[in-house]
Amino acid sequence: MSTVVLIGAQWGDEGKGKVTDFLAEKADVVVRYQGGTNAGHTLNVADKVFKLHLIPSGILYPGKTCVIGNGVVLDPAALVKEMVGLQERNIDLAQLRISDRAHLVMPYHKLLDELDEKQRKEGKIGTTLRGIGPAYMDKVNRVGMRVADLLDELELREKLSAILEAKNMFLTKVYGEQPFSLERIVGELRQYAEILRPYITDTSVLLEVLILQNKKVLFEGAQGTMLDLDHGTYPYVTSSSPTAGGACCGTGIGPLRIKHVVGVAKAYTTRVGDGPFPSEITGAMAERIREIGREYGTTTGRPRRIGWLDIVVLRHACRVNGLSFLALTLLDVLAGLETVKICTGYRLRGELIAHVPASLHALDSCEPVFEELPGWQEDLSGVEQFEDFPETAKAYVRRIARLLGVPVALVSVGPERLQTKVLHEIF
Ligand code: IMP
Repeated sequence: MSTVVLIGAQWGDEGKGKVTDFLAEKADVVVRYQGGTNAGHTLNVADKVFKLHLIPSGILYPGKTCVIGNGVVLDPAALVKEMVGLQERNIDLAQLRISDRAHLVMPYHKLLDELDEKQRKEGKIGTTLRGIGPAYMDKVNRVGMRVADLLDELELREKLSAILEAKNMFLTKVYGEQPFSLERIVGELRQYAEILRPYITDTSVLLEVLILQNKKVLFEGAQGTMLDLDHGTYPYVTSSSPTAGGACCGTGIGPLRIKHVVGVAKAYTTRVGDGPFPSEITGAMAERIREIGREYGTTTGRPRRIGWLDIVVLRHACRVNGLSFLALTLLDVLAGLETVKICTGYRLRGELIAHVPASLHALDSCEPVFEELPGWQEDLSGVEQFEDFPETAKAYVRRIARLLGVPVALVSVGPERLQTKVLHEIF
């Protein structure tokens, strides 16, 4: 079996797009299993920049099967826009497959995301406003619209009519908004349905066949472990399961079908949106890292919050995902610093703790315990081999692996494919 799940080990934005793209070159199949257009990958391929939100990055290679699994919440308007954008740049979509069980992000979900955030005031989550939470809420509440519903207009109209009645009642009575028109939404969905129809299938059946044919399958997680609905810093999380287990539920494969789990982590930490962040730094050092690392959200453009590498968070990620390997990104950004810090534990009310506490209040009260290592002055971006990195940079990477007990398989020092150094082969 040749299957790899790739997950974000921190708060998202770890550079998964780049690592996915690197592994996708070897993979036969690339699969998205959760999230929606809240995710955003920027890919640099042959001096072209691609920004993808829903379509797996394998699409940039001819002949790779790219699957949008059932666990994804799919905004048909955004998907069609992304597809047209790729076609205009001569990217072939023939191998794209969309699960008939994926739930749809509807126009009222996007409005509700915005209204709910406004209503939360100071307690806002800082969502991407892409309708993700409300779409997953409807899925769990069993009133979601699914991709399969697009394929039969009569059924679509009947189902949506009942759902919309309740939604409109809520929107008009609670929020004082205008009701959505059934005809308008049905009209739009019919157009999208005709474009998407050729790509829609039972992707669980397809994946089973491909895995049994020993194809190399890469499951690409969006967001990150600390944004996981169960294992993240709840309620400052997304509404899906970005952790490795999500790959099973979100695609319809069994856990024994997964061979390796790779966690992607930045050489430091960032987070967008609100919520606790124990190793956060502010001031000139944060500014410096933000500017050099271009730490602004791909989806929303928001400046990311910056922190030192947090081993407590990564230890948590190693455990809840069962990591086989770590891929360390953006190591080049830390060049030029006299020393670099690693948060190895938290101090909570005078007591040293090694694990992420469940209580938000406790996490907020945690003070980071730092270990300080010598930095390196050399620019790493042009160095060909990991062995040729300055000793202090290599020591930093090795220290991380030792603290976590997980080997570092990839180290990336820039956006280009050649800037990813392979320490262990993954596929
Ligand atoms: P939502 O997923 O739009 O509901 O947002 C919930 C939280 O997850 C917010 O803090 C977002 O900033 C964060 N989030 C969602 N998607 C991403 C991502 O792709 N990268 C980083 N943070 C994200």
